[in-house]
Amino acid sequence: MSDKIEIDRDTWVLVLTGAGVSAESGIPTFRASPDGLWENHKIEDVASPEGFADNPALVWRFYSERRAKAKSVEPNPGHHALVALEEKLGDRFLLATQNVDGLHGRAGSRRLVEIHGNLFKTRCSTCERDPFDDEDLYASNEVPGCGKCAERGDFGLLRPHIVWFGEMLDPRDLHRISRFMANAPKLLFIAAGTSGAVYPAAGFVNNARKFGARTVLINADAADNGAEFHRWIQGKSGAVLPELFDVR
Ligand code: OAD
Repeated sequence: MSDKIEIDRDTWVLVLTGAGVSAESGIPTFRASPDGLWENHKIEDVASPEGFADNPALVWRFYSERRAKAKSVEPNPGHHALVALEEKLGDRFLLATQNVDGLHGRAGSRRLVEIHGNLFKTRCSTCERDPFDDEDLYASNEVPGCGKCAERGDFGLLRPHIVWFGEMLDPRDLHRISRFMANAPKLLFIAAGTSGAVYPAAGFVNNARKFGARTVLINADAADNGAEFHRWIQGKSGAVLPELFDVR
């Protein structure tokens, strides 16, 4: 590719990824289907605290399907390109992802903030126990209960460790991202495979610009916040990312 992005020794690189980066692994993006429905339910109805309160078994079935799908696919060249970049830059690199499929971690990304949670973690909806690894599929009408609550004679339902519509992101994650931006002598911000429709992630480009960042969007289609970027490379992240960086 012509127009490679040069990264010198003072440049720190913050990458934000969205569902588009996993598309070439075979995971459909959120806004891929025109009706945005899952089994005739609006996504908001199965990915919200209200949805969980109404029908936890349905929510677990939705996430169990997504667990099964994510487990059946592999990271693609876009994921691997970000691992290669991190290996060259070390602590001058940070990856924030909206994806919950775990593919960046499986590819080998380590300086990784999963701002919307992780499909393969579960936590209690009642008690304060830490999220724990969980690959189980709750595909029937089963709703798992919390063992820790039961030990105390209480009752709590387990829930996916996902940031749902209407919920706040973990402030520690946001702080880690802001601190990275603030400490960078020269910041390069790359967003890839995200429609720029969901905040606060869609606003990272604006924060980055306040710190003087160069900003580049890699996306197959126009993004809602596309006008905020200095440059848009229209294409598939799995084709663009492996060829993009020239690290000096
Ligand atoms: P979207 O589904 O909104 O957007 C995916 C974007 O990726 C679209 O703009 C596509 O054009 C683009 N795209 C598709 N395939 C691509 C490819 N191979 N290479 C590059 N771009 C490609 O997904 P997100 O922006 O990630 O939240 O959605 C943000 C959040 O909305 C999600 O994290 C999710 C959802 O509600 C939660 O689950 C909390």
